Amino acid sequence: MADKPTKGLADVVAASTALSDIDGKAGRLFYRGYDIHDLAGRTTFEETAHLLQYGTLPTREQLAAYGAELVQGRTLGALVEANIPEIAEKQAPMEALRTLVSLAAADDPDKDSNSPEANLRKAARLTAQQPILVARYHAARTGTPAPEADPELSIAANFLLQITGRTPDAHAVEVFDTCLVLHADHTMNASTFAARVCAATLSDMHSAIVAAIGTLKGPLHGGANEQVMRTLQSIAPGQVAATVRAKLAAGEKIMGFGHRVYKTEDPRATHLRKMSRELAEASGDDTYYRMSKEMEEVVFEEKGLYPNVDFYAATVYHYLGIPTDLFTPVFSVSRMSGWTAHVIEQHADNRLIRPDSEYIGERDQKWEPIDAR
Ligand code: ACO
Repeated sequence: MADKPTKGLADVVAASTALSDIDGKAGRLFYRGYDIHDLAGRTTFEETAHLLQYGTLPTREQLAAYGAELVQGRTLGALVEANIPEIAEKQAPMEALRTLVSLAAADDPDKDSNSPEANLRKAARLTAQQPILVARYHAARTGTPAPEADPELSIAANFLLQITGRTPDAHAVEVFDTCLVLHADHTMNASTFAARVCAATLSDMHSAIVAAIGTLKGPLHGGANEQVMRTLQSIAPGQVAATVRAKLAAGEKIMGFGHRVYKTEDPRATHLRKMSRELAEASGDDTYYRMSKEMEEVVFEEKGLYPNVDFYAATVYHYLGIPTDLFTPVFSVSRMSGWTAHVIEQHADNRLIRPDSEYIGERDQKWEPIDAR
């Protein structure tokens, strides 16, 4: 008989990884041994993606080569191009990304190979294409063509340019780049686990990423950042404490709070709170930041819960001019670097992921012919 399952696999070590590590009690996060506090604001997203996918922070030469690969890799294939308009009309953003990445598999020059070299090239292409897919989807649904991506600009700068239609200022680029760094990888979170389960059948990179996107979409995972903004927008500024208390009393969860692993402040939230405050002050209207602070205080008072990465990311993206329903797609733009690295890592030392289950159904049932049931 199987052992009793741990609901939600809490505390179950499901894989070995050299990519990231969390100390949930101390509130610390490391990418390949580097403290997130040392990377955030000092290392670009491109350097971080290289760190995850190739294993090292790049030298200038390596970064130039990787940057060139990203620029070349962001060109969308014919099948993706042809389908963006209809997908933009019929699918919500995360559904659209799930479909478009699946279509991109057919356009990928390495589509018939699962070799480590091909997967590194696919990792760079997927990382380069994800922000373009979001921008092109948004352009198609709004009927406003996105400005061409500029090969001289970073992924962060290009994304803001293409989404807002304006050349972003240096501070906005710095903030958004830091957001991408902060979201790049996070041990065995649900979407990464989904990607690894898929990859462990020796399925291909794009299939694993489609599984991850479908998993990130849910409001208990990446979908929470959008819900945080919707919650803030639904509350009158003077009603934060009363509304949050009423929601908690009714047994509702407050999106953007709580975490399976962190028992203290999520180190990513520390950076996001600060960036949210800076952007709020610069915008001249800090209402949502003040509401967020109040919400944080009330949730801690009532439940002892800390904000997670999604909580202050919401107001940061809002102040950067990103539409609310693109918040979770933005998460995927960053996490693509980690997901792809996990697929590569899984393939490098693979064993099928196939846990057991505890059977709780009927036993010894007596079969009856259909007319006797
Ligand atoms: N608001 C209110 N209560 C909460 C919250 C919350 N956000 N989070 C946890 N709790 C309470 C639960 O109701 C539960 O209380 P109980 O024991 O009295 O029933 C207790 O804390 C434990 O919560 P679980 O949901 O069992 O914790 P779990 O580890 O399974 O879930 C999760 C973690 C999903 C993040 C949870 O905290 C949650 O639903 N948060 C809101 C959604 C969210 O912000 N998700 C993003 C997470 S970060 C990321 O994925 C990128």
